This record gives sequence, structure tokens and C-alpha cells, in this order.
Amino acid sequence: MRKPIIAGNWKMNKTVDESISLANGLKRALFSIENVEIVLCPSFTSLGELVDVVSGSNISLGAQNMYWEPEGAFTGEISSKMIKSIGCKYVIIGHSERRAYFGETDQTVNKKVKAAIKDGLLPIMCVGEKLEERERGKTFDIVSRHVEKGLDGVSESDAVKVVIAYEPVWAIGTGRNATPEQAEEVHDFIRKILRKKYGETPAENIRIQYGGSVKPENIEQLMAEKDIDGALVGGASLKEESFIDIVKKSSVVLKEK
Ligand code: 13P
Repeated sequence: MRKPIIAGNWKMNKTVDESISLANGLKRALFSIENVEIVLCPSFTSLGELVDVVSGSNISLGAQNMYWEPEGAFTGEISSKMIKSIGCKYVIIGHSERRAYFGETDQTVNKKVKAAIKDGLLPIMCVGEKLEERERGKTFDIVSRHVEKGLDGVSESDAVKVVIAYEPVWAIGTGRNATPEQAEEVHDFIRKILRKKYGETPAENIRIQYGGSVKPENIEQLMAEKDIDGALVGGASLKEESFIDIVKKSSVVLKEK
């Protein structure tokens, strides 16, 4: 049985004070939620403070990026070992913004996934096609490449630690989410790849989140789909009310799923 995961990717937003205030509000409002795993991914500068804020609560933390070497002369980079040591559980890897603006490739994503697991972090590995790739009928090729190469050399026992986030690039920040049917079609496809690669049990246990314009108005329909195990939320996770709404509505849908 997969425990769904709703994560807020705050991207490059919020000062330390703003982050503390939002995290405190979420903690107060969501303390009774048990059937959804709640994760916040603030910027690096806020992570240390938020460890104290969420300590003892049902909220976990994740970083938005990492480097695969444990330490050394890599100015500006932060390793999985460092992220783990401050108390994070997750790390987002290979977000499409990092692939588009910071030169991330399937190879760097794969190195990061392996290093994260080695250091005890759970990777949230992002995959997904661009609009022109979807229009050219390449969605399944792209997603399959992202999944296969991202998990290259990752063993069955490690693969179950990975959360896959299907984030079609055309749905990110555009207000235009994939329809529940479009998302489910790709999630089902990803699970088939996992089944082929790792077998039935691991494939059934690996969580696949949807991301891209998730909001309170569309979360219920998305969460009702069989293979959608949560959401990676950008813009709507920056507002206290909307993230609370998203988590609470997910929790209700799950009780009926
Ligand atoms: P939006 O929810 O703002 O579309 O962003 C999605 C995303 O990129 C989460 O990682």
C-alpha cells in the first residue's frame, strides 16, 4: 500500500522569516492529517530553521537540489551528505527548471539519485515532456528515457526509496494542468516501466506524484486516479490556504479511494 505524498516545491521564493511563518501555519492546520505524507521543500537558506519548526510534527522536509560529490572544491554546491545531516528526508532531483536552465542531464540526474540514496535521502526524481515533444507524439519516449536513465544502476531495494514526479513541462506554472486522464495515462505507463525493470512488488510500492498547476480546484480529480500517489505543488504551495486545502482534500479523497 503506497502512502501518498503531497510536497510543496517553494522554488526560489520566501525569505527565512516568510518560510517560518508559512511552515508554522501549515503545521497548525495540518497536524491531524495521517493518511498523506506532507513535505515542504524550501530554499537552502530556510531549511535549517524549518527543521526546528517542523520537528515533532507530521511534516517532513526536502531540498530542491544537491550535488553528487560528498565534499570538495565545488564552489556553490551542497551535497546530499550535508542535506541529510541537517535533518532532511527528501531531495528533489532533475526538476525541469534545472534541466532547462542549469544544464542537468539524465546522467547528472542519475548520479544525484544514487548519491542521495547512498547518503540516506529519498529522491523525488522529476520526469516529463515539453509541449513540442507532446505535440510530436514523443511523450512516452521522453518519459521512458527520463525514468530508465535516471534509475540506471539503481537496485530494486533502492528503487522503492525513490518518488517519481511526473511533471509535464507545459503544465508547470501555466495554470493549465494535465487532465486527470492525461496524467493517469503517463503514470500507468511509468508503473509499467517499473514493473518490467523491478517486478510487481517494487512497482506497486514506488510512489508516482503528479506536478503541474496543481491547485485546490483540481486536486480531487487528480488524486482519485489509480496511479496518482500525490502531488508536487509549485505556486499553490506558497499560499497557506491553498496548500492546506490541497492536503485536506487529498486526505478525504484517499479515504474513499
Ligand atoms: P506549479 O504548481 O506552479 O505549476 O509548479 C509545479 C512544479 O514545478 C512543482 O515542482
